[in-house]
Amino acid sequence: MCGIFGYSGKRDAAKTIIDGLKRLEYRGYDSWGVAVVSSDKIDVVKKVGAIGDLSSLSKLPSSTIGIGHTRWATHGGVTNYNAHPHYSTDKSFVVAQNGIVENYQELKEKLTKKGYIFSTQTDTEVIVRLIEDKLKKEKELFKAIRSAFLDLEGRNTIIVLPTSNSHIYAVRNGSPLVVGIGKDEVFIASDTLSFADKTDKVVYINNNEMVSYHGGEVSLYDVKSGKELKTKISKLEHDDISIAKEGYDHFMIKEIVEQRHTIREAVQYSLEELTPLLEAIKKSRNVYTVGAGTANFAAGQIAFYLRRYAHINAIELKSYEMESFKDMFSNKDLILAISQSGETADTIEALEFAKAKGAKVASLVNMLGSTITRMSDYPYFSRSGPEICVASTKAFTAQISWGYLLAKSLTGKYSQARKDIEVLAEKLQNYFNKKLFSQMQLLAKKMAKHEHFFVLGKGQNYYIALEGALKVKEITYKHFEGFAAGELKHGVIALIDKGTPVFVIVSEDENKNDMMSSAAEVKARGAFVIGIAKKSNELFNEFIKTIDASELDPIANVIPFQLLSYFLGVSLGNSPDKPRNLAKSVTVK
Ligand code: AGP
Repeated sequence: MCGIFGYSGKRDAAKTIIDGLKRLEYRGYDSWGVAVVSSDKIDVVKKVGAIGDLSSLSKLPSSTIGIGHTRWATHGGVTNYNAHPHYSTDKSFVVAQNGIVENYQELKEKLTKKGYIFSTQTDTEVIVRLIEDKLKKEKELFKAIRSAFLDLEGRNTIIVLPTSNSHIYAVRNGSPLVVGIGKDEVFIASDTLSFADKTDKVVYINNNEMVSYHGGEVSLYDVKSGKELKTKISKLEHDDISIAKEGYDHFMIKEIVEQRHTIREAVQYSLEELTPLLEAIKKSRNVYTVGAGTANFAAGQIAFYLRRYAHINAIELKSYEMESFKDMFSNKDLILAISQSGETADTIEALEFAKAKGAKVASLVNMLGSTITRMSDYPYFSRSGPEICVASTKAFTAQISWGYLLAKSLTGKYSQARKDIEVLAEKLQNYFNKKLFSQMQLLAKKMAKHEHFFVLGKGQNYYIALEGALKVKEITYKHFEGFAAGELKHGVIALIDKGTPVFVIVSEDENKNDMMSSAAEVKARGAFVIGIAKKSNELFNEFIKTIDASELDPIANVIPFQLLSYFLGVSLGNSPDKPRNLAKSVTVK
C-alpha cells in the first residue's frame, strides 16, 4: 500500500527518491509522485501507473531535499491529480499520506463551512486544508501540523515538505514510519528496505511521534504533548537487501524456487532462542494464532500443528474478524501473530485488542524492525529475505516450517523437526526442474478455458486448499475456491458440473480414504479431477506428483498451486508480481 519516502542530503533528491520509491514498489501502488524544493519553491511531478518512464523528472530542478509517494487509491480515483504529494493552496508546503482519515467527511464539512475549497475526493486534501486552517492560529508549520494531526481519526502517517529550505516533517499513527541516518543524509520512509542499500542506521518511529528534520538534524517529539523525545539509533540487520530478479523473469518464480532454502532459514533458531516462547505457550490457557490472507492460512496451519503435535489449545483467528473476541482475551492467553510485512493494519489491531487485556504477544514476521515485531514480547523472524511479489509464497512456507519446529519443540522433538525440514529442503533442491515446469505449463494451458475451480483438502491439507486457491485467484483472476473436503456433501457439491476442475490434495495419511471418497463423489458428477498427491489413482484425470514430506506435506503440497498460479497468470498476460488491485503491505483497514 502507499509508500512514503523523504530525502535530504548531498545526493540528487529526485533520483534518490525514485530509487527509494522503487524499493517500496512491492507494497503495491497505482500512481506516484515526487516533490523537491529549490530556491524556496516546491516543484511536483505526479504520474499514474508504474514508475517507468522518468522523462517527466527532467521538469524538476536540481535539489537535495524532497519527498515522494506511491499511492494505492482509497478515496478518489487513480488520477494524476489525486496522486500525492498535494500542494497547499499557496504552494508553501506539500503533503503525502499513508492511511485513511476516518473522519474526513466531518472535517471536510467543517472546513468547507469555513470557506476552504476542495478539488479532489481524497482524504489527503482534508489534511492539507486542515493544516492551512491551523496555521492561521498557530503561525508555525510545526505546530499547525501537530494540531491538525491530533484532529485526524484512523491510522495515518503523513510527511510534509515546506518551501523553507532543509525542513521535512513527518508524523506517525498506525502506518509505518522509519528514519534512516546516513553520512550527511537522512531518509524518512515507510520501511527500512527502501534505504537499506544506503545506510544501516535507523530510528524506529512509534505511534504518535513526530519527526522534525531541519538542516541535518533529526528531532523527535511526542505529538500529543509536544515534548521532545530521545532518538534511539538502531542498527539494521537485514541479511539480504538486494532486490533483483537474478535472471528470473519475475520475482514470483524466483521466490517460489527460493523455497529450496528459505524453509531451512526460517528454522535457524536454537532451542535456547525458542525456549522463552515455548515456556510462555506452556503457561498459556489459550494460544490464538492470528493473521490475514495467506498469513492467516499459515496461522491456521501453525494452530493445527500446535494442537495436533503438542496438544496445545491453539485457535486460529482472522485478524479482521476480532470484534467478538475482544473481551475473551486475558493475561492467561498468548496471541501469535503471523505476518510477512509486520505492518498489516488488521493484524496490528488484533494485537492491540489482545494486549489491552494483558495477553502476551508473540510474532513471526519477515520484515525486520516492523511494527508487529516491536509490539511483541516474543518476536521471531522468518528470515526469507525480501518478498517482492505481492502474492506471498516463500514467506508462507517459511512460516509453516517455523510453526512445525515450534510445535515439535514443545514435545522435546526440536532436533527431529530440524532434521525433517532439512530433509525436505534437500528434496526440494532437484524438485524445481524443467519437467515439473513443463507439466505445470501444460496444466495451465488446459485450465485456461475454465472460470470456476475447486480445491479440496482435509486435516493437514485443509489450509493448503485455502491457500492454494487464494494463490491462483490472486494471479489469474479466476474463481478458485478452497474447501474442507468435508464441506462437499453439505453444499459445495451442488457446484460440481460436467468438466468442473476439482483439485484434490491427498497425503498418505489417515485422511487419504476420505479424500479419495470426495474425489469419487465429484468425479461421479462429471468433475475433471486433478490429484495433488504422492501416488496416481484411477480417479485422477490429471496427476501432479508431490514430494512425500509426511508431516511437512503442507509445504510440499502448496507448491504446485504456486506454480500453476504463476504459469497460468503469465499465459493469461497478467502481471504475476503486481496483480491488479492488490497491495503487498495492507496498512489500512
Ligand atoms: C498474500 O498472497 C496476500 N497478498 C495477502 O493475503 C497477505 O498475505 C495479507 O495481506 C497479509 O499480509 P502480511 O503477511 O504482510 O501480514
